[in-house]
Amino acid sequence: MIDRIEQLQQDAQAEIAAADSTDALEEVRIRHLGRKAELPNLLRGVAQLPPEERGAVGKAANAARQALETAVAARERALAASELELRLVQDRVDVTLPADPLPATGRLHLITQTRREMEDVFIGLGFNIAEGPEVETAYYNFDALNTPVTHPSRLMTDTFYVKPVEDLFDPRTVLLRVHTSPVQVRAMERQAPPLYIVVPGRVYRPDSDATHTPQFHQLEGLAVDTDITLADLQGTLLTFARAIFGDERQVRMRPHFFPFTEPSVEVDVSCFNCKNGVTAEGERCPLCKGTAWIEILGAGMVDPNVFQYVREYGYDPEKVQGFAFGMGIERIAMLKHGVPDLRLLYDNDVRFVEQFG
Ligand code: DAH
Repeated sequence: MIDRIEQLQQDAQAEIAAADSTDALEEVRIRHLGRKAELPNLLRGVAQLPPEERGAVGKAANAARQALETAVAARERALAASELELRLVQDRVDVTLPADPLPATGRLHLITQTRREMEDVFIGLGFNIAEGPEVETAYYNFDALNTPVTHPSRLMTDTFYVKPVEDLFDPRTVLLRVHTSPVQVRAMERQAPPLYIVVPGRVYRPDSDATHTPQFHQLEGLAVDTDITLADLQGTLLTFARAIFGDERQVRMRPHFFPFTEPSVEVDVSCFNCKNGVTAEGERCPLCKGTAWIEILGAGMVDPNVFQYVREYGYDPEKVQGFAFGMGIERIAMLKHGVPDLRLLYDNDVRFVEQFG
């Protein structure tokens, strides 16, 4: 019996020493010291032994159990310590690294970029930025811009009216502005000449197809001073065209008509995609359609009739002259970046918008 106890203790000691994890050690403990293990059973059976054996067997078994318990506890401490060490090494977090891939940086929409670029050119020339309401009255949108009541752009098919219209020709009729030109009048009411402003903003027209969206952007220009001539307009627009489309650009004016300018012109910029309408590959240029010129805006000398509406604010048509122009921001962006369809600017497809900026 004593030999058996010794054998059990030796086997258990060896297994305790060999246990390579706290989990493995726990299994060894249960196998040798658990409720079903041989040694504890032996201890429990001591009472049934003949009285002369009880003392020696009981003592040996108890000593063996105590020795094993001590050995388990010591091994447990050692294993736990090295396991903690390992975890500390493996779990190390490098707090200097970002938790996730860096989020993509946002960027400005091409229309905003183009608007700012255009503004910068005119700020460089001494113009100020002015703004006005998108919900306008017929007075500012039409009447004070010398637009006759018979003008077709006043029709419901060409202008969004805000309230049920009682009288289309009442100057108080409320509408969504069809151009940024009404801010010309508002700016002149606010400030006496000299006045040099550009007006970026949203405008609205009931059109929708590949080249028209019901809402788009314009940049208006107005310069009023003494001794302003058409040559000042031409020089200003030449500087603009070269800043946006390249140093080699030329501009030309063609006679046109707008109610608020006299004379009125349409302004073309020389095509930057070809030479004399022919591309480097010898094809007819698709951008200018072989004409070598691209229309970019409408302009003219401010009609004296417009000054009559703001005469009381210092705009005597006998004393001041001015030039004005208006152009589509989308159109400038599309020409400059070769955008084939206006609707791409509004589809919100990141594959498109990510290409700019
Ligand atoms: N308002 C015109 C339009 O929407 C553009 C325009 C033409 C503006 C001539 C002007 C101008 O200031 O002088 O088509």
